[in-house]
This record gives sequence, C-alpha cells and structure tokens, in this order.
Amino acid sequence: MMVATGLVKRFTIGSTEVLAVDGVDLDIKKGDFDLITGVEGSGKSTLLGMLGGLTPPSEGNILLQGQNIWTLSGTRRAHLRATEISLIFSFSGLLPTLTVLENVMFPSVFAGTMVHIDKKAHRLLQLVGLSGKEDLGPDCLSPDEGIRASIARALINDPSIILADDPVRDLDPEKVTGIMEIFATIHREGKTIVLASRTTELESFAQRVMRMERGKLSEQIA
Ligand SMILES: Nc1ncnc2c1ncn2[C@@H]1O[C@H](COP(=O)(O)OP(=O)(O)OP(=O)(O)O)[C@@H](O)[C@H]1O
Ligand SMILES: [Mg+2]
Repeated sequence: MMVATGLVKRFTIGSTEVLAVDGVDLDIKKGDFDLITGVEGSGKSTLLGMLGGLTPPSEGNILLQGQNIWTLSGTRRAHLRATEISLIFSFSGLLPTLTVLENVMFPSVFAGTMVHIDKKAHRLLQLVGLSGKEDLGPDCLSPDEGIRASIARALINDPSIILADDPVRDLDPEKVTGIMEIFATIHREGKTIVLASRTTELESFAQRVMRMERGKLSEQIA
C-alpha cells in the first residue's frame, strides 16, 4: 500500500542542522494498524508529514500504490491527499465558522464528490458518537468530541490510508480509550491506519508496534 525507503529529513536552523528523520524504511500493508511510539522530538510528526505529502523529504522515496508521491506535481499530490491520504492531529482543526456537519463535509470539496455527502457525513458522525451535534459550532464540542469530529472528517473521502499524529495527546486519560476504540472500529472495517503517539499504553490496539528514537524507526518484537 505505502512503501517508504531511505527517508531522511534535515532541518537547518541558522548554522545548526537537525536530523529529524534519519534513514527510515517502512512497509505499510493494506489493512495494517501500525503504532509508532516515541518521546517528544523523536521525529514522529516529521515522518507522518512526509508520508502524508505535506513535508518534502530531504532524501528517500514514498510510494503509495506504486506512485512516488514526491515526484508527482503539486496538483496531483494535492489530489492524492484529498482522496487517498487523511491526516488527523492532536487538535481538531475544525473551522469555527462551519457547523460540525459542514466541517465533516468540507474535504469533499477538494475531492469533487459533494453529491449526497451530507448523508455520509451524518453516518460518520454517528460512527464517532456525535449524533445530535451536527448543527452545532465546533466551540460547543469538548476536546475529545473535537477529535471525534476530525476522525469523521478524515473518513469523508474514503481514504486508503489514515495517518494519525498523536490524536489522544491532549485528552484527559479517561477519554483515550473511547477514541482508540473508534480507530479500532474503522480498522475492523478495513481501513489502513498509522498512528503515532508518545504514549506507549496504546499498544494493545495496534497490530504492529514500532519505536521512533532520534529519527530512527525500529520494529518492536513483542
Ligand atoms: N519545521 C521544523 N524546523 C526545524 N526543526 C524541526 C521542525 N520540525 C521538527 N523539527 C525538529 O525535528 C525533531 C523531530 O521533531 P518532531 O516534531 O517530528 O518530533 P515528534 O516525535 O513529533 O515530537 P512530539 O512528541 O513532541 O510531537 C525535533 O528535534 C524538532 O525540534
Ligand atoms: Mg509530534
């Protein structure tokens, strides 16, 4: 599904160079639920940003279904991100001027699939436990409900792969399981998920656990 080889990302700040990702190879198979754990600054977000088509690698290649996402034109990569790759973050990123339902429908604009999209958005809001909140503004949602809405939004265009960058990081501990159960449900329904988190306690939800340390990724053998 997605194969990354020799991924390197360097950031230069003044005269210092930070090696955020240091030679990562990763083979994500269709239907995988992969967890990448690692402490603050280990390179998780940088890696997901490259896989997600937002952060250009310094070196290496990323193939999604055989297509090298970083040699495509910007327009084609944008289309790929609109249709095939969905990113979820630790903040909801909901637009404050749209209702919850409108926020969930919004990415369909980029994919050009707006017909009957409201039905689908209603269904997805039900899946993430937000039925009845469709017509409220994002400010009416609690932090964990905001993340739930962002998961629904990430699913609206039926992506092949979901990249979740520490979606539970800022949530109260008692809210974490509920969010992870949503990921487990969408995984059971066939979605491919790569979830990064500082928290190692999420391991039971994933099929494969990897550890990021100072830009290097290693698979954990249970
Ligand atoms: N845009 C940037 N410019 C410069 N340095 C950066 C940039 N983004 C990340 N870094 C550096 O790259 C390293 C990896 O950062 P990254 O954000 O990928 O880590 P992380 O594992 O996601 O951490 P966290 O758990 O805090 O989210 C850090 O040293 C960070 O300071
Ligand atoms: Mg991060």
